[in-house]
Order: sequence, then structure tokens, then C-alpha cells
Amino acid sequence: MDQSYDKVIILDFGSQYTQLIARRVRELKIYSEILPCNTPFKNIARKNPRAIILSGGPASVSSKYSPACSSKVFDMEIPVLGICYGMQLMAKHFKGRVLSSSRREYGRAQLFIDRSDDLFKGLGKSINVWMSHGDGVKRLPGGFKRVAHSANSTNAVMRNRDGKMYGLQFHPEVVHTPAGKRILRNFLYGVAGCAGRWTMKSFVKHSVEEIKSMVGDDCVVCGLSGGVDSSVLAVLLNRAIGKKLTCVFVDNGLLRKDEHKKVIKTFRGHYRIALKFVDAKKRFLDKLKGVEDPEKKRKIIGNEFIRVFEEETKKIGNVKWLAQGTLYPDVIESVSLRGAPSATIKSHHNVGGLPKKMKLKLIEPFRELFKDEVRTVGGELNLPDEIIWRQPFPGPGLAVRIIGKVTSKRLDILKEADAIVVEEIKRAGYYRKVWQAFAVLLPVKSVGVMGDERTYENTIAVRAVNSKDGMTADWVRLPYGLLGTISNRIINEVNEVNRVVYDISSKPPSTIEWE
Ligand code: XMP
Repeated sequence: MDQSYDKVIILDFGSQYTQLIARRVRELKIYSEILPCNTPFKNIARKNPRAIILSGGPASVSSKYSPACSSKVFDMEIPVLGICYGMQLMAKHFKGRVLSSSRREYGRAQLFIDRSDDLFKGLGKSINVWMSHGDGVKRLPGGFKRVAHSANSTNAVMRNRDGKMYGLQFHPEVVHTPAGKRILRNFLYGVAGCAGRWTMKSFVKHSVEEIKSMVGDDCVVCGLSGGVDSSVLAVLLNRAIGKKLTCVFVDNGLLRKDEHKKVIKTFRGHYRIALKFVDAKKRFLDKLKGVEDPEKKRKIIGNEFIRVFEEETKKIGNVKWLAQGTLYPDVIESVSLRGAPSATIKSHHNVGGLPKKMKLKLIEPFRELFKDEVRTVGGELNLPDEIIWRQPFPGPGLAVRIIGKVTSKRLDILKEADAIVVEEIKRAGYYRKVWQAFAVLLPVKSVGVMGDERTYENTIAVRAVNSKDGMTADWVRLPYGLLGTISNRIINEVNEVNRVVYDISSKPPSTIEWE
């Protein structure tokens, strides 16, 4: 990473909002990185941060096993902002008094500003903020002053004498604190003196230079799936190293209708990238024959993909590097403060999961980016909107949208139905408004009547959900008219379908995909 950017380190104490803090800081054009709270001090110091933010967290500083960061963080002579748990930790470190309150403060609260010369500059006498805490700072540490209070928190905001240490009891990173970004801006620009130099334009420029010098004369292989991340990656690499890049695009037969044609046209035709197109439909279908279990399907598809990819890479020869579209949320080391790791609900497979035994060196230019930043990079590289705004598509593709056995015939039915769903969703202006919209082929036949004939045919479920990150989701209230058009078109145009249903379940307890 280029050191001309100011860097802010966020120490994570297990808050569900930690990633949001990182995003807000980056939205202010300052590079931020999340580290687990127990990161050794030397690793923090090595990053040479301009400021440190201590996140919130579910623990209580008064409990025996409460998480802490190295106390040297408070001696670095750079500004530190403690949020919620982070504030309480700061108060405890400087010998203030933190107590559990009998009255938890949760939700919206009015904050009364006592001093408005730094963090709250330009914000008036009171603002609405979002609180979520049981503990609170009852007595300020020596040398600290109160900056703001609320009905339930006497010391809702504190700062030390030299104006370097700040504690906020509320969460400035959530949208429910409307002035939150302004407060963070005041801290980062005003208090810490950061300059906003982290932009995606400069990211592209520096990445291109970095990739060039890293790769030298070696060859690079990149798995292209047609999704946003791998597409933006391919174009970035192409700009950096041109002919030394080969993209491998594996058609597993489980892609959307005409997807492979579009990918070939865009990358070979438009970008003139060396693209190896591998038609592996038959291989995947043979392996999937008779398989009904979703997890087995995923494993088979994942393993077969690796096999095909390895074979193709060998054929290219002299490949030393593997480029992957790994994103920041995948690499953040999470601190397990809540006990055991969560159970595996679905073992996701995507193009990213390639084997270590290939012994290739890795290039992962997006390791530090969030998805929306990758989209901005795509914009900087002039990728068409159609690619930049493509909805997420699961690695195992349509195989997990055909409930039960996957056959060539069932794939054809689903592809046609799915194409209609996407086309109509786009036509109605909903494509970018929803997280995912797609069709699912159910293993259910039902009776219908077409003309004077009795039919006994398949059922398609239409699914449209809204989500921020795929972790939770709500079904979309699509207009009846649109649902009607989708249903009519599917029943009229797709052979062997006589019924369409709309899925109105949210995640949890359902999942987005049916398998
Ligand atoms: P679920 O069904 O778990 O989906 O609620 C959450 C998000 O993940 C996508 N998904 C997958 N992506 N490989 C992937 O690359 C998979 O095996 C897989 N399963 C689900 C799903 O489309 C949604 O965006």
C-alpha cells in the first residue's frame, strides 16, 4: 500500500458495526484498516497510522475476560477515538469509572452538546444519535472533560486535555446518527489532520504500477466468472500487464442464458483480453448426474472447477501468478468474542477458492476493498454498467436453483424462466433496486389447463430480495402488475411450466437461495 495515503487503524472489539466504521472512514477518502483488538502493538505501529479508532463491542469492560488492546496504543501520541465499548475501555485505561447502568440506552437519543469547538463543530446545540449500551462512564478520568451528555448518559462524549483522546458513547457510524459522518470528518480531518487522498482513481493508478512491478515478465492467470469482482479484476490486470494476462472462463453449463456469449464478446471482443473459453458443460453434468443433495452439488461443482482450471493453467505454461478477486470482508480477521464459530449453513464456492497446491503466487488487488469500491474501480476503468451492477450469482450457479436432480432439460427450462424474470425486472427499473431477482425450478408438478387440454407440468418460484450483504434479506414487494407479467410470460413462453409462485420469505429464517 502506498504510504502517501493517511491510514486509520480500527481496532475491532467485536461490534456488528465495525465494518461500517471502516466504510465511513473510506467514504471520507481516508484509507482504513480493521485489525483485531488483540493485535500486537508492533504490528499496529508498523502501519504508521494517523489515528486509531476503537470499535464498540458486546462485552463489558468490568467483566473478567473483557477484551483489551495493547495499552501502548494510548501512548502513541496520535488521536484515538473510542466508540461505545472503545470509550469505556479508554475511560478504564485512564482510571475513570465505568459502571453498568440500570437503564440501558438503546435506540435514538438526543445528545446535548456542551462544547462545540472540535468534534461537534457546526452542529448546533443538540443532535439525534444512536445509542446501544448498558455500561457508561460514571466518572471521567483525570484530565478528561465532558463534551456532550444525554438524558441517560451524563458523560456521553469525553475528551482529554490536549484534545487527542475522544470517547463517544453513541455510534457515529450508523445511519441513525445523521450527523455521524460529520463528526467522523471533524475527528479525522480536524483533530487528526488527515488529508483525503484515498480515491478509487488513485487506487487504480497505484495498483496498475504495483501489479506491473510485481509481475515483471511473468505470466498471470485469472479465473473469470462474468461477475463484478472477477470482471473488474480482469480489466485492471489487462491495463497493467496486457498480453501477460490469460483469463480462463469455465462454462460449467450452470450459467444464465447466453451468459457465456456475453462474457466472450465483452472480454475477447471489446477488451481484447486473451480469454480461454472452456466448454465443460458435459463434464459438470455427468458429475452431477442423479445428485440431489445441495451440499454434494456444491462440492462436486467446486472440485470439478478446480480440476478444469488446473488443467487449463498447465496448458498455458509458464504461469507464475494467480489473480483473485478476494474482497476485504473476506480477509478481515474476525475476533471470536462470542464463543464458538458459527455453524456452516452452506459451504459457498466461488472462483476465489482455488487450491494452494497450484503453487502460484497470488495477486489480490481488491484485498483492501469493499464491494462498492470495486464497483467504483469498475467505473474508473470504464466497464459497462451491465457488468458493474450485475447482481450476485452463486458459484454453483443454476444447480442450486434446480431443486433436486440437475438435468440438461431442467437447466433449459430454468434458463428460459430466469431470463424472463431478469428481463422484466430490468424493464420495470427494478434491477438495480433489488439485491437479487431470479427463478427457481421446483420438483413439483401440478395440474393446469391450457386451451381445452389438461396439463401436468412444472412450477417456477420467483424470488426477489433486498439485502445489504447477503447475510440477512427481505423479500421485495414487487408490484402485482410486474409479477403478473412475469408469471404470464413464463407460463406462455417456457415449455413445460404451468404455474408460477412468488417466494415471500425473508432471511432468516429462510435463505436467499433455495438450496
Ligand atoms: P444464502 O442462500 O446463503 O445466500 O442466503 C447468500 C448469498 O450468497 C450467495 N450464495 C452463494 N455464492 N457460492 C457463492 O459464490 C455458493 O455456494 C452460494 N450459495 C449462495 C447467494 O446467491 C446470496 O447472494
